[in-house]
Amino acid sequence: MASSRILVIGGTGRIGRHLVAASLNAGHPTAVLVRPATAGAGADDPVRAKLLEELHNHGARIVNGDIKDHESLVAAMEHADVVISAVGHTSPEEVESQLKIMRAIQDTGNVKRFVPSEYGCNLELADQMLEPARSILGAKLRVREALRASEIPHTIICSYWNHGFLLPKAGDPEADGPPVTRVTIFGDAMFVNEKDMSTVTIKAVDDPRTLNKVLHVRPPANLCSLHQLVSLWERKIGKNLEKCYILEEELTRKVQTSPFPLNFQLAMVHSTLLAGVPSAACEQITVGGDDASDNCNDNEVEATELYPSMNYVSVEEYINGLIV
Ligand SMILES: NC(=O)c1ccc[n+]([C@@H]2O[C@H](COP(=O)([O-])OP(=O)(O)OC[C@H]3O[C@@H](n4cnc5c(N)ncnc54)[C@H](OP(=O)(O)O)[C@@H]3O)[C@@H](O)[C@H]2O)c1
Repeated sequence: MASSRILVIGGTGRIGRHLVAASLNAGHPTAVLVRPATAGAGADDPVRAKLLEELHNHGARIVNGDIKDHESLVAAMEHADVVISAVGHTSPEEVESQLKIMRAIQDTGNVKRFVPSEYGCNLELADQMLEPARSILGAKLRVREALRASEIPHTIICSYWNHGFLLPKAGDPEADGPPVTRVTIFGDAMFVNEKDMSTVTIKAVDDPRTLNKVLHVRPPANLCSLHQLVSLWERKIGKNLEKCYILEEELTRKVQTSPFPLNFQLAMVHSTLLAGVPSAACEQITVGGDDASDNCNDNEVEATELYPSMNYVSVEEYINGLIV
């Protein structure tokens, strides 16, 4: 059977680049839809232009287009069996621009699977989060609901906290880098490496078991309390850190007074780590506990069960890689 042709929208982003790499590594003909200002000579951002050159050198086809330009979307999708979105979350509008992608998928008629830009926590309790997380995750939820209503074949990836976001700062979005003398401790979290999440996504796009499902990526060994994370850092740097514990009221105040994107990151920390809102999905898994599939309803599947031979980068391995 011919390998599915994959189109990634948002392939120059922090998450999208891993999805493009995983698609190429799995041997899929892979295209990346890129805004003209991002690609080619005279590109706005030299770092993204260089990234695109690397993706091209690894075999990706670069296609000019824009989510806001329907014709360009339809033209790019005519050569795609699978569309993966990795658009960002700078605003609810950016998230909801994916409704335009869905309209183009419906007009094209040949796309067999769509993966919307999620790659985070489950969204059911988004309305209980602090702003701006409530609006941004609320927009993700509206895209999810529109997707279900549209009958576009899809898979939604819930991969919780990416390694690259909180681990290098020992769990504190406000930190400038790794902890040196003191550290702020929030709570527990599921940490999944971006490359592993991308490998799982590419496996899932051709898998009938993930059709129209939420696919959770919850390797039990990657559920880590922030206390464990700080202990790992202490072992690695060979000294004890001064521990600061933050009260919920103080964290709420910081969310309300910080600029974007820090306020979004702190609001996610508030919901996931402190208030335990969407971590409910993580709490269902206990390390060494019951089969993860027992915790999924009919609309949900668990990557560790579908792809049991997959090895996941652990929190400790990731931190080891950060320290030279
Ligand atoms: N769980 C976690 O810890 C975690 C962490 C980070 C992100 N995420 C999630 O991962 C997803 C991607 O986020 P990110 O941080 O990787 O995003 P990002 O770095 O901001 O990248 C956004 C991408 O979307 C593209 N894009 C935006 N508007 C476009 C348009 N009109 N037409 C075509 N392309 C457009 C951008 O292209 P240009 O290069 O042209 O700007 C860029 O490639 C989001 O859903 C986010 O919530 C999860």
